Amino acid sequence: MTKNSEKPLVVGLAGFGTVGGGLVRLLDENADLIRRRCGRAIVLKKVLVRNATKARSAQLPAGTELTTDYRALTDDPEIDVLVELIGGIDNARTIIDRALDQGKHIVTANKALLAEEGLALFQKADRKKRILRYEASVAGAIPIVETLKESLTGNRIQSLMGILNGTSNYILSEMTSNGLDFDVALKQAQHLGYAEADPTLDIDGHDAAHKLILLIRLAYGVHYPYTALSVRGIRGLSGMDIRLAREFGYRIKLLGITKRTENGIELRVHPTLITAKRLLANVEGAMNAVLVQGDAVGATLYYGKGAGAEPTASAVIADLVDITRLATADPEHRVPHLAFQPNAMTNIEIL
Ligand code: NAP
Ligand code: HSE
Repeated sequence: MTKNSEKPLVVGLAGFGTVGGGLVRLLDENADLIRRRCGRAIVLKKVLVRNATKARSAQLPAGTELTTDYRALTDDPEIDVLVELIGGIDNARTIIDRALDQGKHIVTANKALLAEEGLALFQKADRKKRILRYEASVAGAIPIVETLKESLTGNRIQSLMGILNGTSNYILSEMTSNGLDFDVALKQAQHLGYAEADPTLDIDGHDAAHKLILLIRLAYGVHYPYTALSVRGIRGLSGMDIRLAREFGYRIKLLGITKRTENGIELRVHPTLITAKRLLANVEGAMNAVLVQGDAVGATLYYGKGAGAEPTASAVIADLVDITRLATADPEHRVPHLAFQPNAMTNIEIL
Protein backbone atom coordinates (compact mmCIF):
# COMPACT_ATOMS: atom_id res chain seq x y z
CA MET A 1 0.00 0.00 0.00
CA THR A 2 1.47 3.36 -0.99
CA LYS A 3 1.02 6.63 0.86
CA ASN A 4 -2.43 8.20 1.07
CA SER A 5 -1.94 10.06 -2.18
CA GLU A 6 -3.49 10.25 -5.60
CA LYS A 7 -3.04 6.51 -6.08
CA PRO A 8 -6.50 4.90 -6.13
CA LEU A 9 -7.44 2.28 -3.55
CA VAL A 10 -7.82 -0.85 -5.69
CA VAL A 11 -10.57 -3.26 -4.62
CA GLY A 12 -11.33 -6.88 -5.44
CA LEU A 13 -14.99 -7.68 -4.74
CA ALA A 14 -16.01 -11.27 -3.92
CA GLY A 15 -19.78 -11.51 -4.41
CA PHE A 16 -22.08 -9.61 -6.78
CA GLY A 17 -25.49 -10.42 -5.24
CA THR A 18 -27.74 -8.13 -3.20
CA VAL A 19 -25.01 -6.33 -1.25
CA GLY A 20 -22.32 -6.60 -3.93
CA GLY A 21 -24.75 -5.09 -6.47
CA GLY A 22 -25.55 -2.25 -4.04
CA LEU A 23 -21.84 -1.63 -3.57
CA VAL A 24 -21.16 -1.45 -7.31
CA ARG A 25 -24.04 1.05 -7.79
CA LEU A 26 -23.10 3.23 -4.82
CA LEU A 27 -19.39 3.34 -5.65
CA ASP A 28 -20.38 4.59 -9.09
CA GLU A 29 -23.13 7.04 -8.06
CA ASN A 30 -21.14 8.65 -5.23
CA ALA A 31 -17.67 8.35 -6.80
CA ASP A 32 -16.94 12.10 -6.74
CA LEU A 33 -18.13 12.51 -3.17
CA ILE A 34 -16.11 9.50 -2.01
CA ARG A 35 -13.04 10.83 -3.76
CA ARG A 36 -13.43 14.21 -2.06
CA ARG A 37 -13.64 12.44 1.30
CA CYS A 38 -10.73 10.05 0.76
CA GLY A 39 -8.44 12.23 -1.30
CA ARG A 40 -8.28 9.46 -3.88
CA ALA A 41 -10.54 7.21 -5.91
CA ILE A 42 -11.78 3.75 -4.93
CA VAL A 43 -11.48 1.57 -8.01
CA LEU A 44 -13.10 -1.82 -8.51
CA LYS A 45 -10.65 -3.98 -10.41
CA LYS A 46 -12.15 -7.48 -10.28
CA VAL A 47 -15.42 -9.09 -9.19
CA LEU A 48 -15.77 -12.74 -8.20
CA VAL A 49 -19.02 -14.65 -8.84
CA ARG A 50 -20.13 -18.27 -9.11
CA ASN A 51 -21.92 -17.86 -12.42
CA ALA A 52 -20.36 -15.40 -14.86
CA THR A 53 -23.30 -15.48 -17.29
CA LYS A 54 -26.05 -14.54 -14.80
CA ALA A 55 -27.90 -11.23 -15.28
CA ARG A 56 -26.87 -8.63 -12.68
CA SER A 57 -28.71 -5.77 -10.98
CA ALA A 58 -25.82 -3.37 -11.54
CA GLN A 59 -23.48 -2.63 -14.39
CA LEU A 60 -19.77 -3.01 -13.79
CA PRO A 61 -17.59 0.01 -14.63
CA ALA A 62 -15.64 -0.19 -17.88
CA GLY A 63 -12.46 -2.16 -17.28
CA THR A 64 -13.71 -4.13 -14.26
CA GLU A 65 -13.18 -7.83 -14.83
CA LEU A 66 -15.69 -10.56 -13.84
CA THR A 67 -14.12 -13.85 -12.74
CA THR A 68 -15.04 -17.19 -11.20
CA ASP A 69 -11.51 -17.80 -9.86
CA TYR A 70 -10.97 -16.31 -6.39
CA ARG A 71 -7.20 -16.38 -6.83
CA ALA A 72 -7.58 -13.81 -9.59
CA LEU A 73 -8.46 -11.45 -6.73
CA THR A 74 -6.40 -12.72 -3.82
CA ASP A 75 -3.22 -13.09 -5.84
CA ASP A 76 -3.43 -9.86 -7.82
CA PRO A 77 -0.64 -7.63 -6.46
CA GLU A 78 -2.46 -4.47 -7.58
CA ILE A 79 -5.46 -5.20 -5.34
CA ASP A 80 -5.20 -3.45 -1.95
CA VAL A 81 -8.46 -4.58 -0.36
CA LEU A 82 -10.54 -7.73 -0.68
CA VAL A 83 -14.25 -7.10 -0.01
CA GLU A 84 -15.95 -10.39 0.90
CA LEU A 85 -19.68 -10.43 0.17
CA ILE A 86 -20.27 -14.07 -0.78
CA GLY A 87 -21.53 -15.20 2.65
CA GLY A 88 -21.30 -18.68 4.16
CA ILE A 89 -18.35 -20.04 6.10
CA ASP A 90 -15.93 -22.29 4.23
CA ASN A 91 -15.43 -20.52 0.90
CA ALA A 92 -15.44 -17.09 2.54
CA ARG A 93 -12.80 -18.17 5.07
CA THR A 94 -10.61 -19.64 2.33
CA ILE A 95 -10.75 -16.42 0.34
CA ILE A 96 -10.11 -14.13 3.34
CA ASP A 97 -7.27 -16.35 4.58
CA ARG A 98 -5.59 -16.32 1.22
CA ALA A 99 -6.12 -12.57 0.81
CA LEU A 100 -4.51 -11.91 4.22
CA ASP A 101 -1.59 -14.15 3.23
CA GLN A 102 -1.20 -12.04 0.11
CA GLY A 103 -1.13 -8.82 2.17
CA LYS A 104 -4.63 -7.51 1.42
CA HIS A 105 -6.80 -5.58 3.84
CA ILE A 106 -10.27 -7.08 4.29
CA VAL A 107 -13.80 -5.72 4.43
CA THR A 108 -16.60 -8.19 5.09
CA ALA A 109 -20.33 -8.25 5.88
CA ASN A 110 -20.14 -11.89 6.96
CA LYS A 111 -21.37 -12.10 10.56
CA ALA A 112 -21.73 -15.90 10.42
CA LEU A 113 -18.04 -16.32 9.59
CA LEU A 114 -16.86 -13.71 12.11
CA ALA A 115 -19.07 -15.07 14.90
CA GLU A 116 -18.10 -18.68 14.36
CA GLU A 117 -14.48 -18.40 13.23
CA GLY A 118 -13.58 -14.74 13.60
CA LEU A 119 -11.00 -15.12 16.36
CA ALA A 120 -8.48 -16.87 14.10
CA LEU A 121 -9.06 -14.31 11.34
CA PHE A 122 -8.63 -11.31 13.64
CA GLN A 123 -5.45 -12.86 15.06
CA LYS A 124 -4.12 -13.46 11.58
CA ALA A 125 -4.98 -9.90 10.50
CA ASP A 126 -3.10 -8.60 13.57
CA ARG A 127 -0.09 -10.82 12.82
CA LYS A 128 -0.03 -9.68 9.20
CA LYS A 129 -0.64 -6.04 10.23
CA ARG A 130 -3.67 -5.90 7.97
CA ILE A 131 -7.00 -4.20 8.66
CA LEU A 132 -10.15 -6.36 8.87
CA ARG A 133 -13.29 -4.20 8.91
CA TYR A 134 -16.83 -5.49 9.39
CA GLU A 135 -19.27 -2.62 9.97
CA ALA A 136 -21.81 -4.09 7.51
CA SER A 137 -21.97 -7.37 9.40
CA VAL A 138 -24.09 -5.97 12.25
CA ALA A 139 -27.35 -4.03 11.81
CA GLY A 140 -26.78 -3.08 8.15
CA ALA A 141 -26.57 0.68 7.80
CA ILE A 142 -26.32 1.48 11.53
CA PRO A 143 -22.73 2.34 12.51
CA ILE A 144 -22.88 0.29 15.70
CA VAL A 145 -19.47 -1.40 15.33
CA GLU A 146 -17.80 2.00 14.99
CA THR A 147 -19.86 3.35 17.90
CA LEU A 148 -18.73 0.60 20.28
CA LYS A 149 -15.18 0.59 18.92
CA GLU A 150 -14.67 4.35 19.10
CA SER A 151 -17.48 6.52 20.45
CA LEU A 152 -18.36 4.72 23.69
CA THR A 153 -14.86 3.68 24.77
CA GLY A 154 -15.09 5.80 27.93
CA ASN A 155 -18.00 3.71 29.17
CA ARG A 156 -18.50 0.51 31.05
CA ILE A 157 -21.24 -1.04 28.92
CA GLN A 158 -24.02 -2.17 31.25
CA SER A 159 -26.46 -3.62 28.76
CA LEU A 160 -27.19 -3.90 25.09
CA MET A 161 -30.51 -4.91 23.62
CA GLY A 162 -31.33 -4.95 19.95
CA ILE A 163 -33.57 -5.81 17.05
CA LEU A 164 -30.74 -7.25 15.00
CA ASN A 165 -32.47 -9.24 12.29
CA GLY A 166 -34.35 -7.31 9.62
CA THR A 167 -36.04 -10.38 8.13
CA SER A 168 -37.59 -11.45 11.44
CA ASN A 169 -38.67 -7.92 12.22
CA TYR A 170 -40.16 -7.56 8.74
CA ILE A 171 -42.11 -10.82 9.16
CA LEU A 172 -43.38 -9.85 12.63
CA SER A 173 -44.37 -6.37 11.38
CA GLU A 174 -46.23 -7.75 8.37
CA MET A 175 -48.01 -10.33 10.54
CA THR A 176 -48.95 -7.59 13.06
CA SER A 177 -49.94 -4.74 10.74
CA ASN A 178 -51.19 -6.49 7.61
CA GLY A 179 -52.25 -9.87 8.97
CA LEU A 180 -49.91 -11.69 6.57
CA ASP A 181 -49.12 -15.36 7.09
CA PHE A 182 -45.60 -16.19 8.26
CA ASP A 183 -44.62 -17.94 5.01
CA VAL A 184 -45.91 -15.14 2.77
CA ALA A 185 -44.07 -12.50 4.81
CA LEU A 186 -40.86 -14.58 4.64
CA LYS A 187 -41.16 -14.85 0.84
CA GLN A 188 -41.52 -11.07 0.62
CA ALA A 189 -38.44 -10.56 2.81
CA GLN A 190 -36.48 -12.89 0.52
CA HIS A 191 -37.74 -11.05 -2.55
CA LEU A 192 -36.62 -7.71 -1.03
CA GLY A 193 -33.10 -9.09 -0.48
CA TYR A 194 -33.26 -9.05 3.35
CA ALA A 195 -33.00 -12.76 4.06
CA GLU A 196 -29.85 -14.89 4.20
CA ALA A 197 -29.23 -17.45 1.44
CA ASP A 198 -30.38 -19.94 4.09
CA PRO A 199 -33.36 -18.11 5.69
CA THR A 200 -33.48 -20.52 8.63
CA LEU A 201 -30.54 -18.46 9.96
CA ASP A 202 -32.94 -15.50 10.14
CA ILE A 203 -36.10 -17.10 11.45
CA ASP A 204 -34.41 -19.42 13.95
CA GLY A 205 -32.49 -16.55 15.56
CA HIS A 206 -28.98 -17.55 14.51
CA ASP A 207 -28.31 -14.45 12.43
CA ALA A 208 -29.26 -12.22 15.38
CA ALA A 209 -27.07 -14.41 17.61
CA HIS A 210 -24.11 -14.06 15.24
CA LYS A 211 -24.47 -10.28 15.45
CA LEU A 212 -24.85 -10.32 19.23
CA ILE A 213 -21.61 -12.30 19.58
CA LEU A 214 -19.81 -9.63 17.54
CA LEU A 215 -21.30 -6.85 19.66
CA ILE A 216 -20.37 -8.36 23.03
CA ARG A 217 -16.75 -8.70 21.96
CA LEU A 218 -16.77 -4.97 21.34
CA ALA A 219 -18.78 -4.14 24.45
CA TYR A 220 -16.93 -6.25 27.03
CA GLY A 221 -13.67 -7.41 25.43
CA VAL A 222 -14.62 -11.09 25.68
CA HIS A 223 -14.47 -14.05 23.34
CA TYR A 224 -17.23 -16.58 23.62
CA PRO A 225 -17.83 -19.43 21.25
CA TYR A 226 -21.03 -18.90 19.32
CA THR A 227 -22.43 -22.04 20.98
CA ALA A 228 -22.43 -20.25 24.37
CA LEU A 229 -25.61 -18.40 23.43
CA SER A 230 -29.14 -19.41 24.21
CA VAL A 231 -31.01 -18.85 20.92
CA ARG A 232 -34.66 -19.00 19.98
CA GLY A 233 -36.12 -17.50 16.80
CA ILE A 234 -39.57 -16.54 15.56
CA ARG A 235 -40.46 -19.83 13.85
CA GLY A 236 -43.60 -21.17 15.44
CA LEU A 237 -45.06 -17.78 16.38
CA SER A 238 -48.64 -17.66 15.15
CA GLY A 239 -50.98 -14.87 14.12
CA MET A 240 -52.85 -15.64 17.32
CA ASP A 241 -49.73 -14.98 19.50
CA ILE A 242 -49.27 -11.64 17.78
CA ARG A 243 -52.95 -10.63 18.07
CA LEU A 244 -53.07 -11.54 21.76
CA ALA A 245 -49.90 -9.55 22.49
CA ARG A 246 -51.42 -6.57 20.72
CA GLU A 247 -54.71 -6.84 22.63
CA PHE A 248 -52.83 -6.64 25.93
CA GLY A 249 -50.77 -3.61 24.82
CA TYR A 250 -47.58 -5.40 23.76
CA ARG A 251 -45.60 -6.11 20.61
CA ILE A 252 -43.49 -9.22 20.00
CA LYS A 253 -39.93 -8.49 18.85
CA LEU A 254 -36.97 -10.79 18.33
CA LEU A 255 -34.34 -9.32 20.65
CA GLY A 256 -30.66 -9.98 21.20
CA ILE A 257 -30.03 -9.18 24.85
CA THR A 258 -26.89 -8.90 26.94
CA LYS A 259 -26.48 -7.48 30.44
CA ARG A 260 -23.35 -7.11 32.54
CA THR A 261 -24.03 -7.94 36.16
CA GLU A 262 -21.73 -8.32 39.17
CA ASN A 263 -21.71 -12.08 38.64
CA GLY A 264 -21.23 -12.29 34.90
CA ILE A 265 -22.91 -11.69 31.56
CA GLU A 266 -26.45 -12.52 30.52
CA LEU A 267 -26.58 -13.40 26.86
CA ARG A 268 -29.54 -14.59 24.79
CA VAL A 269 -31.74 -14.20 21.71
CA HIS A 270 -35.49 -14.79 21.85
CA PRO A 271 -38.88 -13.34 20.94
CA THR A 272 -39.81 -10.82 23.64
CA LEU A 273 -43.00 -9.05 24.68
CA ILE A 274 -42.39 -5.27 24.74
CA THR A 275 -44.89 -2.67 25.98
CA ALA A 276 -46.27 -0.93 22.89
CA LYS A 277 -45.21 2.50 24.19
CA ARG A 278 -41.50 1.71 24.15
CA LEU A 279 -39.38 2.85 21.21
CA LEU A 280 -38.13 -0.66 20.44
CA ALA A 281 -41.73 -1.88 20.12
CA ASN A 282 -42.25 0.60 17.29
CA VAL A 283 -39.30 -0.41 15.13
CA GLU A 284 -41.06 -1.75 12.03
CA GLY A 285 -40.24 -3.62 8.83
CA ALA A 286 -36.57 -4.38 8.14
CA MET A 287 -35.45 -1.57 10.44
CA ASN A 288 -33.03 -2.46 13.24
CA ALA A 289 -32.44 -0.71 16.55
CA VAL A 290 -29.81 -1.17 19.23
CA LEU A 291 -30.20 0.22 22.73
CA VAL A 292 -26.88 0.55 24.53
CA GLN A 293 -26.63 1.54 28.18
CA GLY A 294 -23.25 2.86 29.34
CA ASP A 295 -22.33 4.00 32.84
CA ALA A 296 -21.39 7.48 31.64
CA VAL A 297 -23.77 8.12 28.73
CA GLY A 298 -26.84 6.36 30.12
CA ALA A 299 -29.22 5.00 27.48
CA THR A 300 -28.36 5.53 23.80
CA LEU A 301 -30.40 4.27 20.86
CA TYR A 302 -29.22 3.56 17.30
CA TYR A 303 -31.83 3.07 14.59
CA GLY A 304 -31.71 2.43 10.85
CA LYS A 305 -32.10 0.03 7.96
CA GLY A 306 -30.81 -3.35 9.05
CA ALA A 307 -30.73 -5.05 5.66
CA GLY A 308 -30.93 -4.42 1.95
CA ALA A 309 -28.52 -3.55 -0.86
CA GLU A 310 -27.67 0.16 -0.53
CA PRO A 311 -27.96 0.45 3.28
CA THR A 312 -25.49 -2.41 3.70
CA ALA A 313 -23.26 -1.13 0.91
CA SER A 314 -23.13 2.21 2.74
CA ALA A 315 -21.42 0.45 5.67
CA VAL A 316 -19.02 -1.37 3.33
CA ILE A 317 -18.00 1.94 1.75
CA ALA A 318 -17.45 3.50 5.18
CA ASP A 319 -14.96 0.71 5.88
CA LEU A 320 -13.24 1.22 2.52
CA VAL A 321 -12.95 4.95 3.12
CA ASP A 322 -11.48 4.29 6.57
CA ILE A 323 -8.92 1.98 5.00
CA THR A 324 -7.83 4.74 2.61
CA ARG A 325 -7.11 6.82 5.72
CA LEU A 326 -5.74 4.20 8.11
CA ALA A 327 -3.73 1.79 6.01
CA THR A 328 -0.62 3.95 6.06
CA ALA A 329 -0.76 4.63 9.82
CA ASP A 330 1.54 2.71 12.15
CA PRO A 331 -0.37 -0.56 12.87
CA GLU A 332 0.35 -0.04 16.59
CA HIS A 333 -1.75 3.12 16.50
CA ARG A 334 -4.77 1.69 14.73
CA VAL A 335 -8.06 1.16 16.57
CA PRO A 336 -7.99 -2.52 17.62
CA HIS A 337 -10.29 -4.82 15.63
CA LEU A 338 -12.31 -5.76 18.72
CA ALA A 339 -12.16 -2.38 20.51
CA PHE A 340 -9.84 -3.84 23.18
CA GLN A 341 -6.14 -4.51 22.72
CA PRO A 342 -5.66 -8.13 21.60
CA ASN A 343 -3.79 -8.97 24.83
CA ALA A 344 -6.49 -7.35 26.99
CA MET A 345 -9.39 -9.65 26.10
CA THR A 346 -10.81 -11.36 29.16
CA ASN A 347 -13.18 -14.08 30.35
CA ILE A 348 -16.39 -13.27 32.17
CA GLU A 349 -18.80 -15.97 33.23
CA ILE A 350 -21.98 -16.35 31.20
CA LEU A 351 -24.98 -16.57 33.50
P1 NAP B 1 -26.35 -13.00 -2.23
O1 NAP B 1 -27.34 -12.05 -2.79
O2 NAP B 1 -26.71 -14.43 -2.11
O3 NAP B 1 -25.01 -12.86 -3.11
C1 NAP B 1 -23.92 -13.70 -2.94
C2 NAP B 1 -22.94 -13.47 -4.08
O4 NAP B 1 -21.77 -14.23 -3.83
C3 NAP B 1 -23.44 -13.89 -5.44
O5 NAP B 1 -23.03 -12.95 -6.41
C4 NAP B 1 -22.77 -15.25 -5.71
O6 NAP B 1 -22.47 -15.48 -7.06
C5 NAP B 1 -21.48 -15.05 -4.96
N1 NAP B 1 -20.95 -16.31 -4.44
C6 NAP B 1 -21.47 -17.11 -3.49
N2 NAP B 1 -20.67 -18.18 -3.26
C7 NAP B 1 -19.62 -18.05 -4.08
C8 NAP B 1 -18.46 -18.80 -4.33
N3 NAP B 1 -18.21 -19.93 -3.68
N4 NAP B 1 -17.58 -18.35 -5.25
C9 NAP B 1 -17.80 -17.22 -5.93
N5 NAP B 1 -18.89 -16.43 -5.74
C10 NAP B 1 -19.79 -16.84 -4.84
O7 NAP B 1 -25.88 -12.54 -0.76
P2 NAP B 1 -26.05 -11.09 -0.09
O8 NAP B 1 -27.42 -10.94 0.44
O9 NAP B 1 -25.47 -10.05 -0.97
O10 NAP B 1 -25.12 -11.30 1.21
C11 NAP B 1 -23.71 -11.30 1.11
C12 NAP B 1 -23.11 -11.23 2.52
O11 NAP B 1 -23.56 -10.02 3.14
C13 NAP B 1 -23.54 -12.37 3.46
O12 NAP B 1 -22.48 -12.64 4.34
C14 NAP B 1 -24.71 -11.74 4.25
O13 NAP B 1 -24.87 -12.33 5.52
C15 NAP B 1 -24.20 -10.33 4.38
N6 NAP B 1 -25.24 -9.31 4.59
C16 NAP B 1 -26.33 -9.28 3.79
C17 NAP B 1 -27.26 -8.27 3.97
C18 NAP B 1 -28.49 -8.18 3.12
O14 NAP B 1 -29.33 -7.32 3.40
N7 NAP B 1 -28.63 -8.98 2.09
C19 NAP B 1 -27.06 -7.31 4.98
C20 NAP B 1 -25.92 -7.39 5.79
C21 NAP B 1 -25.00 -8.40 5.58
P3 NAP B 1 -23.62 -15.71 -8.17
O15 NAP B 1 -24.36 -14.41 -8.22
O16 NAP B 1 -22.89 -16.01 -9.42
O17 NAP B 1 -24.47 -16.83 -7.65
N1 HSE C 1 -30.54 -11.47 6.82
C1 HSE C 1 -30.09 -10.35 7.57
C2 HSE C 1 -31.27 -9.69 8.22
C3 HSE C 1 -29.37 -9.38 6.66
O1 HSE C 1 -32.40 -9.98 7.83
O2 HSE C 1 -31.07 -8.88 9.13
C4 HSE C 1 -28.73 -8.24 7.39
O3 HSE C 1 -27.69 -8.69 8.21
